[in-house]
Amino acid sequence: MSTNEPETYSALDAPEYAPAQFVRWFREVAPYVHTLRGKTFVVGFGGDLVQAGALNALIQDLSLLTALGVHLVLVHGSRPQVNEQLRLKGFSYQFGRGIEPTSPEALECAKEAAGEIRLDIEAAFSQGLPNTPMSNAHIHIISGNFVTAQPVGVIDGIDYKHSGKVRKFDLDAMKKIISHGAVLLMSPIGFSPTGEAFNLAMEELATSTAIALSADKLIFMTQNSILKDLQDNVITEIAREDADNLIRQGHLDEDTACFLQHASNAVKRGVKRAHLIPFELDGSILLEYFTHDGVGTMVVEDTLDDLRPATVDDIGAIVSLIEPLEADGTLVPRGRNVIERDVEKFTVLEHDGIIYGCVSLIPYPESKMAEMACLIVNPDWQGSGEGEILLRHAENKARALGVKRLFVLTTRTSHWFVKRGFVQGTINDLPAEKQMNYNRSRNSLIFIKKL
Ligand SMILES: CC(C)(COP(=O)(O)OP(=O)(O)OC[C@H]1O[C@@H](n2cnc3c(N)ncnc32)[C@H](O)[C@@H]1OP(=O)(O)O)[C@@H](O)C(=O)NCCC(=O)NCCS
Repeated sequence: MSTNEPETYSALDAPEYAPAQFVRWFREVAPYVHTLRGKTFVVGFGGDLVQAGALNALIQDLSLLTALGVHLVLVHGSRPQVNEQLRLKGFSYQFGRGIEPTSPEALECAKEAAGEIRLDIEAAFSQGLPNTPMSNAHIHIISGNFVTAQPVGVIDGIDYKHSGKVRKFDLDAMKKIISHGAVLLMSPIGFSPTGEAFNLAMEELATSTAIALSADKLIFMTQNSILKDLQDNVITEIAREDADNLIRQGHLDEDTACFLQHASNAVKRGVKRAHLIPFELDGSILLEYFTHDGVGTMVVEDTLDDLRPATVDDIGAIVSLIEPLEADGTLVPRGRNVIERDVEKFTVLEHDGIIYGCVSLIPYPESKMAEMACLIVNPDWQGSGEGEILLRHAENKARALGVKRLFVLTTRTSHWFVKRGFVQGTINDLPAEKQMNYNRSRNSLIFIKKL
């Protein structure tokens, strides 16, 4: 490569670089790319992200998502900047997390801070230097008076003055903007019909926006507010009810509890997924979307939603799970037409629109038996319990059909089944119909589990 060529591509020349690895990676992310088009993401971040110097990197990643067809709404906060303004003007008062009273002076500081951050964001979206991820991006970012606000009012004797909450959105205008590929930018200031401005909390504004737009994702970019287990591992997915229980237990720090509460509210009211993502990790929003486990915590209404009956639209995904295993002899070759014919016997495991596992159940009602076949988890995602989830599902489905014994034919996975309560059987244990079709040359082992 000549030295005049863009620097971004020079990485391909590095001795340790493996082109095959690049191609493999690119193909692996393809399913995620296909699912992005037309999805609405609301991304909320506080002024702390701007203060930490993470704005440009975030905007570059968001530009990429926009280019891939995501309808993007950005909601920014400005709390540290408002506090800084207050301090510079000699006020001792400082805003914390949550809704607090806003004095006339604090409102002026909030307007100044919002204006400044808005301009920083617009500038960041306008970058287009060659050899950077923003080259040729040409993304328009539009902000305006889309939020009608109302005063928080007086609560428990405290007058919240210029603190406001969302009353309604100009949804038609907002949808038009994002559907035309522009980014919609919402500042934490709303206006009342009397022309007054109100200081809004970023977390509430982002949550209300996501709910109003029935967004596919609400994403909070947070400094450190992701959930971790006792071993300090990130909890990558949590059901909304479990998140609510965690908040009720009261052990979370104030910031995490606040973000998690808003994420939970959003999911409860129709937003498909809500994420808490650490902004200090470079590229975290891409890692969260384009890798299976992500790097943050995702709140979902019900984790079992990931398991659903297959439809004809899933045939392609099922075939691509099965084909490599047919090719290496793990599974008996079936052919696409057999899968098309039997697709209603399949259940798929879906994660954010990506199919990464499947299983099929073929009942033999006369012998009160059923065969579990094509139990597959994508090799990249094996070892996290997904195989167990599919097995449990097949067992429950079989029980509901009155099946007493579940069997599998396997050549290479016998130990997995033995560990899960299956015992080896013989051809004579199979339903008569299956005995006739048993492929003796393949010599598969037969494992049976009493349900
Ligand atoms: C079998 C299969 C579905 C398990 O999926 P999974 O999501 O990895 O399963 P789980 O996470 O619930 O279980 C992982 C455990 O199974 C073990 N395991 C995986 N494949 C195994 C095999 N062929 N034999 C024995 N154990 C196996 C792993 O080592 C791991 O053990 P550990 O928990 O002690 O670390 C997956 O390996 C697969 O798709 N295999 C190829 C298709 C296949 O053989 N299907 C069965 C015939 S229909």
